[in-house]
Amino acid sequence: METGYTVEQLRAAATDAVRAPSLHNVQPWRFRLRDGGIEVLLDPTRRLPATDPSGWGARVAGGAALFNLRLALAMAGAPATVRLRPYPSEPDVLARLVPDLPRRPSPAEQSLYAAIPRRFSNRAPFWPDPVPADSRWRLGEAARTEHCWLELLIGVSAVNAFAEIARGAHRVLERDPAYRAEREAWVRAGDEPDGVPVTASGPRAEPQDLLPSRGFGGTQRAPGRDFEPEPLVAVLGSAGNTAVDQVVAGQALQRVLLTATDAGLSASMLSQPIEVPSAREQLRLSLGRFGTPQMVMRIGYGQPGWPTPRRSVDEVLDLPVHLA
Ligand SMILES: Cc1cc2nc3c(=O)[nH]c(=O)nc-3n(C[C@H](O)[C@H](O)[C@H](O)COP(=O)(O)O)c2cc1C
Repeated sequence: METGYTVEQLRAAATDAVRAPSLHNVQPWRFRLRDGGIEVLLDPTRRLPATDPSGWGARVAGGAALFNLRLALAMAGAPATVRLRPYPSEPDVLARLVPDLPRRPSPAEQSLYAAIPRRFSNRAPFWPDPVPADSRWRLGEAARTEHCWLELLIGVSAVNAFAEIARGAHRVLERDPAYRAEREAWVRAGDEPDGVPVTASGPRAEPQDLLPSRGFGGTQRAPGRDFEPEPLVAVLGSAGNTAVDQVVAGQALQRVLLTATDAGLSASMLSQPIEVPSAREQLRLSLGRFGTPQMVMRIGYGQPGWPTPRRSVDEVLDLPVHLA
């Protein structure tokens, strides 16, 4: 058994961890080595007070980064045992990873790891081709493996009912000037290392759209290139809604997204109905499931695209002075 992780292992694994998704691509994470364990922390300077007052989004993003970290360590033959929120007095420490018995990565870990650099949020319209049953099963299984559930909305009426809840939540959020200002502040015209590049924003919203899209400054769509009429909408949920449940949900989210990428599928996230408490409750009741919805995804076959930028790994590592 290893005695502890090294700075080299931390740096290599964190390089993969930062590829995780985050609200507005704020990248709210930091990573450090403490007593031989790798720790994932929230960065208090990267909060979104208007969009994410409770910190739910930051914890989900941190959980997604943690999942990449787990995969990277497993690929390096040094898989981790994970403890979530290990220090009650330090709530910003989301997880602590210590070395488990060394072993070879499983085929599943290898294919999910290979999907990390290829995954990106695809906000453009998808092809109308349906997602085959075996891929749907794999997506559900990915969520279950990470102790969450994934509800795929089946049929036009279920999708329409969801769309109404999502549009209502979108309207509520858009009424708040602080929320709008925060979103606009994270739109990027160039290739800055954080924020949402205009080029990744998808087309500008139009009245005929079924689902609401966050306005990140997209351009007018080409005539006839509307969104797919029957999108596959997937709701990810966790057993409860504590801070730990949200980190668990973030790991499940990333496993679902990487599984989709591995299956040749694209996905985008829409979290407006999660962010508005009354909409989240409506969504929960409409699904008739125990637990709490934590994220909504639109999944399908999309055009190729590009991963969005990230800050360099050195900006997110907390190293002892002599190693920095
Ligand atoms: C908690 C959370 C909520 C998100 N909500 C939305 C959303 O409502 N609309 C959207 O277009 N993207 C949403 N995203 C996706 C992020 O904007 C995206 O991950 C980020 O810009 C980085 O881009 P990438 O996913 O292409 O790597 C969300 C991501 C997370 C983790």
